[in-house]
Amino acid sequence: MKRRKFMALAGMGTIAASGLAYQIQGNHQSDTYGQRVADTWRHTNTVSLSSNKVMEELVRYGTLAANSHNTQPWLFKIGNQSITILPDFKRRCPSVDPDDHHLYASLGCAAENIAHAAMAFGLYANITVHDKAKEVIRIAFAQVPSVRSELFQAIPKRQCTRAAYNGKKVSPHELKILEVATECDGISTRIFTSENDMETILEYVVAGNTDQMQDGGFVQELKDWLRFNPATAMKYGDGLFTATSGNPTFPDWLGGWVFDLAFTEKIENEKYRDQLRTAAGVIAFISEKDDITHWIQAGRSYQRFALQATALGLQHSFVNQAVEVPEVRKQLANYFNIGERRTDLLVRFGYGPRLPRSLRRPLDQVII
Ligand SMILES: Cc1cc2nc3c(=O)[nH]c(=O)nc-3n(C[C@H](O)[C@H](O)[C@H](O)COP(=O)(O)O)c2cc1C
Repeated sequence: MKRRKFMALAGMGTIAASGLAYQIQGNHQSDTYGQRVADTWRHTNTVSLSSNKVMEELVRYGTLAANSHNTQPWLFKIGNQSITILPDFKRRCPSVDPDDHHLYASLGCAAENIAHAAMAFGLYANITVHDKAKEVIRIAFAQVPSVRSELFQAIPKRQCTRAAYNGKKVSPHELKILEVATECDGISTRIFTSENDMETILEYVVAGNTDQMQDGGFVQELKDWLRFNPATAMKYGDGLFTATSGNPTFPDWLGGWVFDLAFTEKIENEKYRDQLRTAAGVIAFISEKDDITHWIQAGRSYQRFALQATALGLQHSFVNQAVEVPEVRKQLANYFNIGERRTDLLVRFGYGPRLPRSLRRPLDQVII
């Protein structure tokens, strides 16, 4: 009885999701979610800007960065030819990210976007990290000739694509380009493409996922950041809109209930098996020291990878379960043979479809 009821609801969700995908994919650009996406994921559309407006535009590019659970845990202060980035601890995720590692990595992602966008505006971004201060990232700009780099061009296209990919390999030449793109002080990367490595990493991801699925705090926190339909996603402008992960949409009153039924250890582990077995590879971001400065650097290194992968026509998404559970992270470190160094982030990549886009909050909510 319970099962039949759920199948019917899932069917309703699929219908809702396919209708939404139709709208989001651009056949109805006037539809409001599609319009919000178009307004969010764009390059600057004004030709001449005052220097304060340029700073605002740079902040806007910063907000297009990846960030944990799409909480957008950042605040920006605009100065005279400078931007500082502060953590917004009201948006921390204590269950999945008890030491704020992901929060600081997210700030690094934003700083990296700002640096690439600045070059397009003829500004070189000198980024410094002050890990004991509230204004943790300070960016001072100096005038240089403008460069619209490939990574800059990719900023509005980048997304975390939580879909199965098509299994196609990435050429050694492109793997090298990706590796070079990630170069960042204090961070090293390892790329794994062999079946043996990928299967072993998968087992650590499944171990981490199993642990998290049994943790009520983790599940509740994730549920709190889910947005089950476009109206709610637009109201908040943050969080994980279900369609962006290829999942159905539901009215709010039904979404939580369906989530409780459908979000099971078995289904989620199967999903990650499928996602890793169809990927071309996995990249690990490893920091020399386990501190705030290096977490920020790991975010910067990831964001470069993400932009370069996007420029190469690759999709990617995080499989951080193996680094979020301390015990599993230790086992993974043994496998990687990296001693006491921390694996910050784990990301799979490959060729595959794109999914509906996530949203961001308006600038007046993040500029202080
Ligand atoms: C530090 C960090 C950790 C993340 N961890 C995960 C993760 O474990 N699983 C996942 O699916 N996405 C993860 N993400 C991706 C975010 O959920 C994603 O960036 C956010 O939802 C916004 O979507 P977008 O990047 O497509 O714009 C992470 C992002 C960052 C920066």
